[in-house]
Amino acid sequence: MNEITAAIPRPNNLDAFWMPFSDNRYFKAHPRLLARAEGMSYYTPDGREILDGTAGLWCCNAGHGRREITEAIQRQAAVMDFAPTFQLGHPVAFEAAARVAEITPPGLDRVFFTNSGSESADTALKIALAYHKARGEGSRVRLIGRERGYHGVGFGGMSVGGIGPNRKQFGALLPYVDHLPHTHLPQRNAFSRGQPEHGAELADALEALVALHGAETIAAVMVEPVAGSTGVLVPPRGYLERLRAICDRHGILLIFDEVITGFGRLGANFGAERLGVTPDILTMAKGLTNAAVPMGAVAVKGAIYDAVVNGAPGGIELFHGYTYSGHPLAAAAAIATLELHRREDLPGRARAMEPYWQEAVHSLKGLPNVVDIRDFGLIGGIELAPRPGRPGARATEVFRRCFDAGVLVRVTGDIVALSPPLIVERHQVDRIVGTLGEAIRAEAA
Ligand SMILES: Cc1ncc(COP(=O)(O)O)c(C=O)c1O
Repeated sequence: MNEITAAIPRPNNLDAFWMPFSDNRYFKAHPRLLARAEGMSYYTPDGREILDGTAGLWCCNAGHGRREITEAIQRQAAVMDFAPTFQLGHPVAFEAAARVAEITPPGLDRVFFTNSGSESADTALKIALAYHKARGEGSRVRLIGRERGYHGVGFGGMSVGGIGPNRKQFGALLPYVDHLPHTHLPQRNAFSRGQPEHGAELADALEALVALHGAETIAAVMVEPVAGSTGVLVPPRGYLERLRAICDRHGILLIFDEVITGFGRLGANFGAERLGVTPDILTMAKGLTNAAVPMGAVAVKGAIYDAVVNGAPGGIELFHGYTYSGHPLAAAAAIATLELHRREDLPGRARAMEPYWQEAVHSLKGLPNVVDIRDFGLIGGIELAPRPGRPGARATEVFRRCFDAGVLVRVTGDIVALSPPLIVERHQVDRIVGTLGEAIRAEAA
C-alpha cells in the first residue's frame, strides 16, 4: 500500500447511504468502490487501476483530477466560500456565465445557473412556460418530450422524459405532457456508423401532436440531440432539422438537453453545433465543471430573456432559482474547465479521435449476442441480445467482468454505453474495447 492509498478512508458500514439508481442489496453484498482518480483512470481502495470508459457518468471530459480545476476551487474556497445570488451578485458567477455564453450556439447568450442536469431540465421547461405567458400566450402550457428521452428526475424532466421505470413509482406526474416516438429503428439502421440514414420522417409526429392538441396549447419540445441514458440513440440524418422547422412553423420552442452532449463530447462545443441545428433553449451540466463541483446551466436566446425580463412590470421577473445558482466554487470550477477546453481544444481532440473510436467500437460486430452498434462523437453503444426472461442481466454481467478486468463501462438495459474522457489515447481505446470484447465473449452462454 503506498502513501496515497493508505490515506484513503475505508467505510466500515455501507448501510446508511441509500444509493441512487442502484441495486442497493446487490451492491452492499458485493461492493465495488472507487477511491481515487487521475487522468484516464480510477483506483480502488486497494490501489487497483480501473480505466475510465465512461468519464465517470458522462462528466469528466477533461480527465480526472485536473490540477488547474482543483486549484481554482481551492483558491475560491479560500477567498469566498459562498455568497447568495438572489438580489446580490458575486464576480465569479458573472464571469462564468460570460465564458459559457462564448461557446454556446449563436444567440443563446443568456445563462441561468443550476446545480444539476435535472434542475437544468426543469428550469428550461419553466422558462419556456414563462416566456409564452410573458408574450400573452398563456394558453401554451403543453410540454412535449420523446419516448426513451431522459431529462433527469425532477417532476418536469421525469414527466417529459420517456422512460417507463423512472415514472411509474411516482404517481400522476405533470399534466399536459405528450411524447414523440423515439428514433431507434434497428430493423433499418442497425450497425450505422454515425448518424443513421433512416427516420427523419419520425419528426412529423410533432405535426400530428399539433393537429391533435392545437399549436396554441404547445409551449415547447424537449429532446436530447443524442439520447444517452437509454442506450445511445443517434438522431437520423435530417430529423432534428425537421423538428426545428415544425417548431418554427408553429411558434413552439425547441429545447435541446445537452447535459451529456455538451462540452466536446460530439467533437464540437455542443451537439447543436455539430448537428447544425440551433435550439431556442439549451440545457447543460456535467462537463461544465468537469464534475469537480456540481453545476448545471440553461442558455437561452436573447429574445426569450428579453420577453421574460423586459416584459415584467418591475421587481423580480422570474420566480425561480436555487440557493446555489452560480455557487462560487462551482463557478470557479467552470471557468477553469472552460479554459482547459479552449487551451487543449478538447472538442477538436474528440473529433480527431472519432474515426479511430468508430473503427474500434464497430470491431465488436460479429461477437456473440451483439445485435447493434451505434456511435457518434466519442460515444459508443453496443446492444446485446437479452438473456431469455432476464432483461439487462447479460449486460450487467459484462459490466462486472469489465470492472474486474480493470475497465469501467456503463450499462443501461442490455446496452453497454461508452463515453471516455476526451483526452483518451489510442492505446486506451484499444484497452477499453478489447476488455469489453472479452467480457462479451465470456458471457456468450
Ligand atoms: C440528457 C440528460 N439530462 C438530464 C440528466 C440529469 O442530470 P443530473 O443527474 O445531473 O440531474 C442527465 C443525466 O445523465 C442526462 O443525461
